[in-house]
Amino acid sequence: MGPADTLPVSAGTTSRGAEPDGGADESALTALSELLADDMQACNQAILARMDSPVALIPQLAAHLIAAGGKRLRPLLTLASARLCGYPATPSRDGRTTRHINLAACVEFIHTATLLHDDVVDESQLRRGLASANAVFGNKASVLVGDFLFARSFQLMTEDGSLPVMAILSKASATIAEGEVLQMATQNDLSTSMERYLEVIHGKTAALFAAACRVGAIVAERPDAEEQALDAYGTNLGMAFQLVDDALDYAADQRLLGKTVGDDFREGKITLPVLAAYGAGTEPDRVFWRRVIEDSAQEPDDLDHALDLIGSTAAIATTLQHAAAYAGRAQAALEIFPDSRIRRLLGDIAAYTVSRAR
Ligand code: IPE
Ligand code: IPE
Ligand code: MG
Ligand code: MG
Repeated sequence: MGPADTLPVSAGTTSRGAEPDGGADESALTALSELLADDMQACNQAILARMDSPVALIPQLAAHLIAAGGKRLRPLLTLASARLCGYPATPSRDGRTTRHINLAACVEFIHTATLLHDDVVDESQLRRGLASANAVFGNKASVLVGDFLFARSFQLMTEDGSLPVMAILSKASATIAEGEVLQMATQNDLSTSMERYLEVIHGKTAALFAAACRVGAIVAERPDAEEQALDAYGTNLGMAFQLVDDALDYAADQRLLGKTVGDDFREGKITLPVLAAYGAGTEPDRVFWRRVIEDSAQEPDDLDHALDLIGSTAAIATTLQHAAAYAGRAQAALEIFPDSRIRRLLGDIAAYTVSRAR
């Protein structure tokens, strides 16, 4: 994929208006959360209720991570997709119309489980602005509570009772694990192709975004075309989101990010900023990248040098260009739905995904 594939990301129109550069700021996330406030509150209650267990360490560790916040972007996508498809809002008089709440909680449990496992694998010390669960409770507890949250997500799926929903969410769970394993296999390998990198981020991140959106159409019993449109929206949004996350790992203000900048570098993780800087580097630069990424022979000042090299090439701009192209495709996928506030806000979320890096 080259720059020719990049599509403009329009901010759409929200009640709060767009940023002057055409990107939507965090207000898209806020506006969508406000529009779906009752649903979000019910979802948060479901999350709290269902992370409980008589085994005290489970709610203790889960609360450490869950109370730390997080954007709750994936459950928001489930709730928004359900609303876009005409599913009734909470509170409802009919017990059958709260399926989206439990499924949104289910999606956040899957996400939270993967974060617990991911931070162990990545040896990350900071998550959501706090010491990570593995830093506080240790690796063993994090892995096991991650397993509990995964298992809980499967209970929530079976309680919903829809086989298509179970098929989508369980497949996404397997795909995330495949993405994480595939990523491990590409670690330290600078010959990793762009296609392979895209396959990794599709697996580890975009698949859950797609599933989160798709189940919204299923609970609303919408035709296949709408399911597929929401799947395409979620897939493209998730790709954009992970590309930006990979840029932020080299370009963010750590305090705002709530995660440690440079984690990917220390791990020798192959992400687009590194592939782009390596590709554009002079021979001495490439010798440096091979030493730090392929041989894992890192000295204390190497992250600063890597940041300089990334800054002196178009590595971040290239990564964000790809992200913007995916965000544009996410917006285009919504076009089969009639214009509405919720559709515009979902479009704005795609713009926010990219603008959060600026
Ligand atoms: C972190 O996801 C994992 C990635 C896919 C990059 P988020 O950035 O959505 O994490 P929280 O839930 O808001 O903390
Ligand atoms: C996130 O990948 C993917 C999953 C959690 C499955 P990252 O390793 O880039 O996420 P962060 O940066 O730790 O949040
Ligand atoms: Mg990680
Ligand atoms: Mg990351």
